[in-house]
Amino acid sequence: MLVSFLFLLLISDEVHCEQNCSYQDVLNYLNLSGNNELYSMTRPVKNYKNPTQVSLEVLLYAILDVVEKDQKFIPYVWTVTRWNNEHISWDPNQFCGIDNVSLPSEMLWKPDLTIEEMTEKDKAPPSPYLTINNKGDVEVQNDQVLVSTCRMHIYKFPFDIQSCNLTFKSIIHTAREIRLQPSDNSSEATEWSREVMRTQYEWLFINMTVTANNASELTDQDMIIYTITMERRSLLYIVNFLLPVLFFLCLDLASFMISDYGGEKLSFKVTVLLAITVLQLILNEILPSSSNQVPLIATYCIVVFALMMLSLLETIFVMHLREKGSRETQRDTHDWTQGGFNYNVSSSETGEVAPGAEEDRHNKLTGNCYTLERLSDELRAMEKTLTLFLKSKKEDKTSGYWTRVAKRVDKFFFLFYVILVLLLLILIFLEWKSD
Ligand SMILES: *[C@@H]1O[C@H](CO)[C@@H](O)[C@H](O)[C@H]1NC(C)=O
Ligand SMILES: *[C@@H]1O[C@H](CO)[C@@H](O)[C@H](O)[C@H]1NC(C)=O
Ligand SMILES: *[C@@H]1O[C@H](CO)[C@@H](O)[C@H](O)[C@H]1NC(C)=O
Ligand SMILES: *[C@@H]1O[C@H](CO)[C@@H](O)[C@H](O)[C@H]1NC(C)=O
Ligand SMILES: *[C@@H]1O[C@H](CO)[C@@H](O)[C@H](O)[C@H]1NC(C)=O
Ligand SMILES: *[C@@H]1O[C@H](CO)[C@@H](O)[C@H](O)[C@H]1NC(C)=O
Ligand SMILES: *[C@@H]1O[C@H](CO)[C@@H](O)[C@H](O)[C@H]1NC(C)=O
Repeated sequence: MLVSFLFLLLISDEVHCEQNCSYQDVLNYLNLSGNNELYSMTRPVKNYKNPTQVSLEVLLYAILDVVEKDQKFIPYVWTVTRWNNEHISWDPNQFCGIDNVSLPSEMLWKPDLTIEEMTEKDKAPPSPYLTINNKGDVEVQNDQVLVSTCRMHIYKFPFDIQSCNLTFKSIIHTAREIRLQPSDNSSEATEWSREVMRTQYEWLFINMTVTANNASELTDQDMIIYTITMERRSLLYIVNFLLPVLFFLCLDLASFMISDYGGEKLSFKVTVLLAITVLQLILNEILPSSSNQVPLIATYCIVVFALMMLSLLETIFVMHLREKGSRETQRDTHDWTQGGFNYNVSSSETGEVAPGAEEDRHNKLTGNCYTLERLSDELRAMEKTLTLFLKSKKEDKTSGYWTRVAKRVDKFFFLFYVILVLLLLILIFLEWKSD
């Protein structure tokens, strides 16, 4: 009993073996084995009037690089292309239920799809295999690093959102030969791309829009445009660029508290101005020179630069006024010490020292010695008054006409400057945040 069961099993196994259960059997049946190039040469249709329906699916795996300067966009994409080969069909029941086979991709005809924006051929070899099923559907999956051009709008850098197109189309086939259709709509493409997205460095993927451009009189080819929209992560640029510039502006504002005397204020302001220039040079490295619209960040830099230059000019002007004022004071003091001495001595004598002088006249005859002593006392008192007088005179003269003008200019300018800075900064940031 057991033996006969084993025998049956063996027989059934043998029967199984006799069946066409290997992939090679399928290929033999399809006449695809060996060096048979029957199917790889021409478009696989039974009647040349039938167009081949090609459906395309694109997923975004990663945004590897976006180079604003070269207007270059480098995504890593996964493409799945499907079409029907009318020469291929088999009954899976005849082949142990095999309903799909993988073949070397050069064995069958493939649509010649290209990406219009691509500027560099992918260096990685294309996927070596394609899959066919029993109904003749062929599927090719490919992943590639695309180096493509993309017109970037850097007006709002670093708060910018970029959209880059990938246009898929056939190189030589017209719409009569190849009909190209997307197999996913925008929401699916976006959702699936989000799921498979591996790395997002500087750029955040927002969405992917699929547009099918059917052939028209103008273009006799079908096109599929995938528009990838992404947003820049601007935090690093804020921390590394916008804030430092703002801090330098604050330093410039603070420099109004430095004393006008001596050159410190001037050299401080020049140093801060030079720091802005360095940051501007860095900016030059990032932004493309081809943009015809001045980016806001450049405007921001130039505005801050201009403001600081204005304040530097004001400082120079005020210093000039003060110089003028102090020269005037010196000249006045000089005049006074030369011409007015006698008058002042007499005035001081007639004032405070008058009773002493009266007494002196009374004791005229008490002796030379005494007189000399009195005189020296008097002189000392006079000297004291003189120095006091001189000092007060000098202080008065410091706030002479030009010095007062300088002070007023300084005060007025500071107010004007603060208001101007606030106004311009608010304007620029509003423009930045507007859509
Ligand atoms: C296997 O395929 C050959 C032709 O390719 C056919 O003649 C044969 O009947 C098939 N065998 C089975 C068990 O289907
Ligand atoms: C394979 O080729 C043979 C003869 O060359 C032919 O009879 C057969 O129909 C072909 N098979 C298919 C699936 O076209
Ligand atoms: C291909 O065939 C294998 C088994 O033969 C099956 O597991 C798989 O799901 C098939 N794939 C497709 C896409 O039909
Ligand atoms: C990208 O494709 C869209 C949809 O056709 C089009 O409106 C847009 O102008 C294209 N952008 C570029 C930069 O070619
Ligand atoms: C996209 O396709 C899915 C399923 O095929 C469908 O549910 C969804 O409504 C479609 N979305 C749009 C915008 O057509
Ligand atoms: C993709 O995002 C952009 C910007 O947010 C938006 O204008 C566009 O409508 C979105 N497209 C889809 C299909 O959601
Ligand atoms: C393009 O043609 C396909 C069928 O070939 C159709 O489903 C689709 O709606 C057409 N699209 C446009 C924009 O005409």
